[in-house]
Amino acid sequence: MSGKEMKTASLILDRDFAIAPVDERLYSSFIEQLGRAVYGGIYDPGNSNSDENGYRLDVLEKIRALKVPVIRYPGGNFVSGFRWEDAIGPRAQRPRRLDLAWATTETNEFGLHEFCDWSTKAGSQVMYAVNLGTRGLDAARNVVEYANHPGGTYWSDLRRRNGAEAPFGIKLWCLGNEMDGPWQIGQKTAYEYGRAANEAAKVMKWVDPSIELVACGSSAYDMPTFGAWELEMLDLCYENVDYVSLHRYYTNPTHDLKNFLAKSLDMDAFIKTVVALIDAVGGKKHSHKKLNLSFDEWNVWYHSNEQDKQIQAENHWGQSLPLLEDVYNFEDALLVGGMLITLLHNADRVKIACLAQLVNVIAPIMTSERGCWAQTTYWPFLYTSLYGRGTSLRPILKSPQYSSAEFDAVPFVDAAAVEGEDGSLTIFALNRSSDSDFQLSCDLRAFAGLRFDTHIVLHHEDIAATNTEAAPNTVAPVTRHECAQLDGRFTPVLPALSWNVIRFMKG
Ligand code: AHR
Repeated sequence: MSGKEMKTASLILDRDFAIAPVDERLYSSFIEQLGRAVYGGIYDPGNSNSDENGYRLDVLEKIRALKVPVIRYPGGNFVSGFRWEDAIGPRAQRPRRLDLAWATTETNEFGLHEFCDWSTKAGSQVMYAVNLGTRGLDAARNVVEYANHPGGTYWSDLRRRNGAEAPFGIKLWCLGNEMDGPWQIGQKTAYEYGRAANEAAKVMKWVDPSIELVACGSSAYDMPTFGAWELEMLDLCYENVDYVSLHRYYTNPTHDLKNFLAKSLDMDAFIKTVVALIDAVGGKKHSHKKLNLSFDEWNVWYHSNEQDKQIQAENHWGQSLPLLEDVYNFEDALLVGGMLITLLHNADRVKIACLAQLVNVIAPIMTSERGCWAQTTYWPFLYTSLYGRGTSLRPILKSPQYSSAEFDAVPFVDAAAVEGEDGSLTIFALNRSSDSDFQLSCDLRAFAGLRFDTHIVLHHEDIAATNTEAAPNTVAPVTRHECAQLDGRFTPVLPALSWNVIRFMKG
């Protein structure tokens, strides 16, 4: 071990203490028509790594490994000024438009058909956002008809003429994006949005009753509109929507590590508050319908802010600019791992969560013309997606605590556990302490017949360490395989500042 002081935390798990089955859509992600996410990211015609469609095969391979069930598209802020019809049909006839959200030029070379086709190759379903900023229910119902109606109508036949005989079958739709934000094209009051969302939802479901709809929650927990927004807009659209969205990005501008690593507690409070707000509206309405949460943007985002100001100042209306290209360090990976633990703790109400975003733009995967590499944050997302499927168990965890600038009673050790359908058990554990290794004394009496299989540790001595094209494996997990029978207790060591995956298998 590290030679640091050793402390102890304890964890009791029992398959009878279940939170909920984990909806695999918890491991979803997001690609916006922004920066180099699409152009130069997933789509790069002429690049030697691309196929005949222009899809980057090296990037597809990294995405497939993540097993991302759903990818949200095409925005984000972008969608609030987007005409979806601009990005269908013959490429040569597609209009070039100013994208006011990011002050860039959108060529529309890549659109709905390309994204649906590409998503199939990535092994993912599409979550499509409609524009409720500059547009409304008519454009919304038309795009549902275009995408999902089999044929014999204007929009569905246009899709077929454009090369897609079979419907795309998009099941998940977002009713706009961050509509209470002043940065949004067509910002709305809660009343304006609630009415617009309700009418759009109604007609979209009339076109295809099998779809599910996400209403925009307030764009952030700390927005002045938060809370009142949820209550008022849901009062207007509750019965016609299925999920409420949450968005949250964390920063560490003052390099306060203890406080930064505690930010997953804020995420937990945010989730619980939105659940309370939703259920208050449902209760007031005497509704039998229960709405769940779509945490469809979450991540760390701040490293690129200053750089972006300069890029935009120098390249007004540029194309495929390297915007929002945060280079993530080791401490970001620890927080992302902590946020995934929080999502698992709330698996009873959070049914969809999108790591924002997937390629180049605040992303776990970066590209250059030569190749692609995994940022530090790729690793916790990968392992939670791979092994965090099954039933989320309620961890009975005892850990020493600390206080930070914004948080009281922060446990040094945080953990979540998932029982897989194959009978496996996986513990995800974060050690937030920079001074102490922790022995995690796990009481696993309820899991007779399991054997310890693997301990994956993500750790680096330097919290500022990053992965780059030149040094892509600077921060990478280390895996220890071992086959040891359990006698009801297992005590792995969690190194100071580490994110861990501990797997137990049958037999
Ligand atoms: O993901 C980047 C941006 O963050 C999205 O476009 C917007 O929805 C949010 O503010």
